[in-house]
Amino acid sequence: MNQDIARVIISEETLLHRVQEMGHEIAHAYADNPDGMTIVAVLSGAIIFLADLIRFLPMKLRVDLVTVSSYPGKTTRSVGPKLTNYSAVNVRDRDVLIVDDILDTGSTLSLVQAELTRSGPRSLRTAVLLRKPGKAPSGIEANFVGFDIEDEFVVGYGLDYDGMYRNLPYVGLLRSHLYE
Ligand code: IMP
Ligand code: MG
Repeated sequence: MNQDIARVIISEETLLHRVQEMGHEIAHAYADNPDGMTIVAVLSGAIIFLADLIRFLPMKLRVDLVTVSSYPGKTTRSVGPKLTNYSAVNVRDRDVLIVDDILDTGSTLSLVQAELTRSGPRSLRTAVLLRKPGKAPSGIEANFVGFDIEDEFVVGYGLDYDGMYRNLPYVGLLRSHLYE
């Protein structure tokens, strides 16, 4: 598998260190909140980030999961996201934090933000591990961002290409001959 990676972009140590820092930032932002918070994580890319992040959050919290698929099969271009298992999510009057792997064009987050807003949360914020600056239109923003990266297709630490490479412990650049 590692021979498919052209370059490590963010090492395992750097990821964990920054995720811990983000945990402190988020814990601070919700510190005055006796009811804790509700995390809505976007599957499948957020799984590793979610698992690491919540262990740095000491307050009461719930985790709900939604599925958004935007890259069917062997493509690195989004074809427009679809939200598929939203019905069980209950965020009314809750302080909600959306957790996703990456803010790229912003269409995933704008979809999730719009759906959640309709359900009447008390507050709604967003945390992403990665962001490709300048790609998302202004108005689609994340309150907590782990790293800004170049506009390149990356995999690992939850991010996939055609369903694979999520288990890499680092974020790396896929060799370009491996994708279309
Ligand atoms: P957006 O809707 O264009 O912002 O894309 C967000 C979703 O696309 C993320 O949740 C990822 O699942 C996926 N994505 C965007 N860029 C990458 C990448 O570089 N590698 C892997 N997945 C990506
Ligand atoms: Mg995703």
